[in-house]
Amino acid sequence: MTRCDKTPAWASLQGHFEAHGRAFDLRDAFARDAARFTHLQVQAPEVFADLSKNLIDAATLHFLADLANECFVPALRDAMFDGAPINTTEDRAVLHAALRSPAGSNFGTAAAVAQVQQVLGNMLAYVETVRDTAASGIRHIVNIGIGGSDLGPQMVVPALDAFAHPGLTLHFVSNVDGHDIAPVLRKLKPAETLFIIASKTFTTQETMANAHAAKAWFTANGGTDTAKHFVATTTNIEAAAAFGVTTTFGFWDWVGGRYSLWSAIGLPIALAIGADHFRALLAGAHAMDQHFATAPVAQNLPMLLGLVDVWYRNFHGFTSRSVAPYHQGLKRLPAYLQQLEMESNGKRVDRSGEPLPYATSPVVWGEPGTNGQHAYFQMLHQGSDVIPVEFILVKNPTHALANLHGPLLAQLERQHTMLLANGLAQSQALMLGKTTDAAMTDKAPTASKSLDASTLAKHRTFPGNRPSTTLMLDQLTPRSLGALIAVYEHRVFTSGAVWGINSFDQWGVELGKALCNDLLPRLGSGDASGLDGSTAGLMARLRG
Ligand code: F6P
Repeated sequence: MTRCDKTPAWASLQGHFEAHGRAFDLRDAFARDAARFTHLQVQAPEVFADLSKNLIDAATLHFLADLANECFVPALRDAMFDGAPINTTEDRAVLHAALRSPAGSNFGTAAAVAQVQQVLGNMLAYVETVRDTAASGIRHIVNIGIGGSDLGPQMVVPALDAFAHPGLTLHFVSNVDGHDIAPVLRKLKPAETLFIIASKTFTTQETMANAHAAKAWFTANGGTDTAKHFVATTTNIEAAAAFGVTTTFGFWDWVGGRYSLWSAIGLPIALAIGADHFRALLAGAHAMDQHFATAPVAQNLPMLLGLVDVWYRNFHGFTSRSVAPYHQGLKRLPAYLQQLEMESNGKRVDRSGEPLPYATSPVVWGEPGTNGQHAYFQMLHQGSDVIPVEFILVKNPTHALANLHGPLLAQLERQHTMLLANGLAQSQALMLGKTTDAAMTDKAPTASKSLDASTLAKHRTFPGNRPSTTLMLDQLTPRSLGALIAVYEHRVFTSGAVWGINSFDQWGVELGKALCNDLLPRLGSGDASGLDGSTAGLMARLRG
């Protein structure tokens, strides 16, 4: 396979960037093309996207589509969906699409889909027994897991709060720091608590330590029926059994940790929202899988987003992307995306191990709007770096579904309009900016006594032409959230495929784990032999 920077499309993009891209101005582009919004929008299942505030035009998209083809992105996508072992460093298939594939559908091997349906059926039957809280007595669920065994459920559960069982409270414990689990346990009673030990490998240090802490707390506080109060979600059924868990929901090595919320790792989600809503989450993702598999590049939302990411990272040289979900329920989406994107595409060698001369994963970060506006948006508007922003707007709130009514509901619906106005205003401000002349004429909220008007106006100038994408959902439901998450998964796949990297391994986390295993006994014994000066010095201070 030809490396992406050696393809004809890359050369065309480079020429196009020099001729039109570097000096591209969004305001001029809208002035030139009154229908730009119409030309640069995509309606994918459940997700509408406005791409018109990006530094792209028809020619950019044309060359990017060529790039996707010349880098065999569609072929690699088809290989993934067919169950080929595209994760070559781990010799595994990449079949998270099979987890949301209805029986008889064409994603993944028939054997994989059949296995999935069996575990899903068992898990959802179990879920309904726990959700019958009068019979089960369970009021609190504690998910103990980290990385992909935490971030997906931890993001989805609050997002779908309007659909959640009112009598169940979900808690998430991930950090090996006892300050994570201790305040959770303080609120609980063993008889009302269900612990889920979530770990693909069932060997992860943090998760095993917290699982032991939970078990010790359970017994010390009079808990008796461990079999009822501890369950596991893992591919390592033997290790779960050795830990003493008898109820286990399995999954398979072809499910990557950061792609696993659709598997048994989604148990906390299913417990919160119930079997039907969990199936709707899967169905939304499946609809996006079909879109990604079949839509032509020009209308293929995940593909377009991944290609624009390449355009920004490798031609404009932008180093990060900020995500601003204008929905408080999506407050953990940026953290979830950090693992999804940066663990997948934070790589510097190609599939055959050769170092790459170009940049790969951007830094992904963000906070929900409107909170971010009062923190780092200053930098987005006037800082020295251009950082593309992704706005996520949700047209209709779900307050009424959460049984709010009367004057409170009316007030919260007014607040929803404020929320949307804020999101729109931010993307507008980033694009339009404000000239120094305009800043001269408008009234400063606080006039300066020490600066003259023209100096002050320079501080109040916005360069504008700062790109953004707006993704829009009609409502945040299990189905639309499933589709939205799948957009991100396939977008990461697309940019990773162009860059020629393996997006499905994570060797970069291993060195720190190994060194931690070496340092752990040394912290006890004080043995600093062979350590570098800094580590030895810090260790001595920690022991002193
Ligand atoms: O350390 C990284 C990682 O391997 C992630 O890829 C994974 O999601 C996380 O650890 C948790 O792993 P496990 O589910 O095996 O406990």
